[in-house]
Amino acid sequence: MSLIKPLVIGHKEFPVNIIQGPLAGVSCAPFRKLIWRYSQPAFACTEMISCKTLLHKPISEQRRFVEIDKAEGPVCFQLSSSDPRELGEATRLVTEYGADIIDLNCGCPVKKIRKRGSGSKLLSYPEKLHALICAMKENTHQPVTVKIRVDGGSGDGFNAQMAEMLNCASPDAVIVHGRHYTEHYETPCNYEEIRYFVERLNMPVIGNGDIACADSLRAMLETGCAGVMIARAGVGQPWLIDRLISELAEQPFVGPTQAEIGEVFIEHIVALSELLGSERFAVYQARALIKYYARSIARRAALREKANVCNTISELESVCADFFVDHG
Ligand SMILES: Cc1cc2nc3c(=O)[nH]c(=O)nc-3n(C[C@H](O)[C@H](O)[C@H](O)COP(=O)(O)O)c2cc1C
Repeated sequence: MSLIKPLVIGHKEFPVNIIQGPLAGVSCAPFRKLIWRYSQPAFACTEMISCKTLLHKPISEQRRFVEIDKAEGPVCFQLSSSDPRELGEATRLVTEYGADIIDLNCGCPVKKIRKRGSGSKLLSYPEKLHALICAMKENTHQPVTVKIRVDGGSGDGFNAQMAEMLNCASPDAVIVHGRHYTEHYETPCNYEEIRYFVERLNMPVIGNGDIACADSLRAMLETGCAGVMIARAGVGQPWLIDRLISELAEQPFVGPTQAEIGEVFIEHIVALSELLGSERFAVYQARALIKYYARSIARRAALREKANVCNTISELESVCADFFVDHG
């Protein structure tokens, strides 16, 4: 039986069960547009957006969070808040902006976010989380999801309490990242804890963590989850989801040449510069993005060093021309 199948979330059915997940500093329209050009995920997510920003900052400061390109497919807006009223209002707003799905971030480990009672801090307050999910459901006709982390083996009954609350609040799906919030992103993802939620929740579970190849994709789907979310591995290789679908179907997949990867990187930075209205900011972001595009380049340390001192896109372009080269 094929592991790649349609994914139903609320009243929506997506043709495949692979999602491009949210990444702060990455998941804006230029990135998602590339994902859609080279792959056909179920949907792609925005990065986490603070509801305070959505409700109180001028729209000119929100472009990078809320803009959707016409070349994109379905988009999931991910919100961050600890206040049900504020979250309800923001949910209504992003529904008007064109969100196809709305997700609540309950996994962010960053201190500043936890201090505000948001992100992974919400996992300590199941009743609050219940109220937040209800506020989202009351303010949109679109499917509502939550993205959580697991307890990481702390053995305090957290997963059981969380599963009970989620079954009661009934979001349309739950994304489970198989790590405790203190583990950030580097320890191996815990598939057994994802399976725990798959077995207990009444709604579809999307497994997330460390999917980067056909084997890790298979291992995640074998937890019984209805779908998977890929985050970091999609950056710098927007064709990844298509490649994985081909590999699982034992179909040939022709990847891009190094020169093409370099061109996609520059296209990404040019589009960022247009979105941000600043070449300088875009080139600054390029320094963080290049490590993903340079994965398969032997001299990637030297490439990153050179990219780090570029001040313009044309400087970046000539550095890339020296490194993204096809041999033979
Ligand atoms: C730089 C970075 C930014 C992230 N930003 C977000 C975010 O905005 N919202 C969110 O829910 N998760 C965020 N995550 C977590 C990812 O969505 C994902 O849960 C995690 O990286 C594990 O999946 P992966 O192994 O496929 O990357 C971020 C992770 C990283 C490394």
